[in-house]
Amino acid sequence: MSTVLYITAHPGSPEASYSLSVGEQFVQAYQESHPEDQVVHVDLYQRSIPHIDSDVLEAWGKLQTGGSFDQLTAAQQQKVTQLNQLLDEFVAADKYVFVAPMWNFSYPPVLKAYIDSFCVRAKTFKYTENGPVGLLQNKKAFYIQASGGVYSEGPVADRENGSRHLKTVLNFVGITDFDHLFVEGLSTAGDRAPLIKAAAIDKARSAAGNF
Ligand SMILES: Cc1cc2nc3c(=O)[nH]c(=O)nc-3n(C[C@H](O)[C@H](O)[C@H](O)COP(=O)(O)O)c2cc1C
Repeated sequence: MSTVLYITAHPGSPEASYSLSVGEQFVQAYQESHPEDQVVHVDLYQRSIPHIDSDVLEAWGKLQTGGSFDQLTAAQQQKVTQLNQLLDEFVAADKYVFVAPMWNFSYPPVLKAYIDSFCVRAKTFKYTENGPVGLLQNKKAFYIQASGGVYSEGPVADRENGSRHLKTVLNFVGITDFDHLFVEGLSTAGDRAPLIKAAAIDKARSAAGNF
């Protein structure tokens, strides 16, 4: 049995969101084709994800230099605990499905905060003589992103920083099996928007079967 984290970085609903509605279909198809697996929804807008602020940096510093958890302030303890819970949940999973809208050429900031929770030295990567090595092996990830413009090809393809950054980070922690699906060109699609969505749902359902 595999555990799949269904990680959504969207404050809206599937009825109003292209990325969430395609993501929902991906999960539905996945569950149909992998009934024995467990899918856990990680709704990033419903989770409390501390930013790496002065509390967190100071707490990490104290812990790394031999300090104990009890020596942290109450705020530091709370933030470190929340970050560790997110990290442990991420490390324990086998597969990851990320869903996000494109906002200003990348994903919403809550996903960056989440990424910051699982890029942790000695937990998900380590440094060696030959450089950094990712510690999360034999895992896979899929990213679904909706955008107003078209980024899979064409003149603004190099402005796409959502999938590109997520892939970089996942590769860094060892997750090299990564694919994405763009639901794109929606701002200028007009009447074609439902067709774009339907085609993306087809692709998502088919990718889910092989995921
Ligand atoms: C705050 C904000 C920023 C956006 N920035 C971009 C952008 O940089 N590039 C783009 O192509 N579309 C942009 N859009 C359009 C959205 O990507 C588009 O509406 C997409 O359908 C959002 O996904 P959703 O349908 O899942 O909400 C932006 C929309 C919002 C609300």
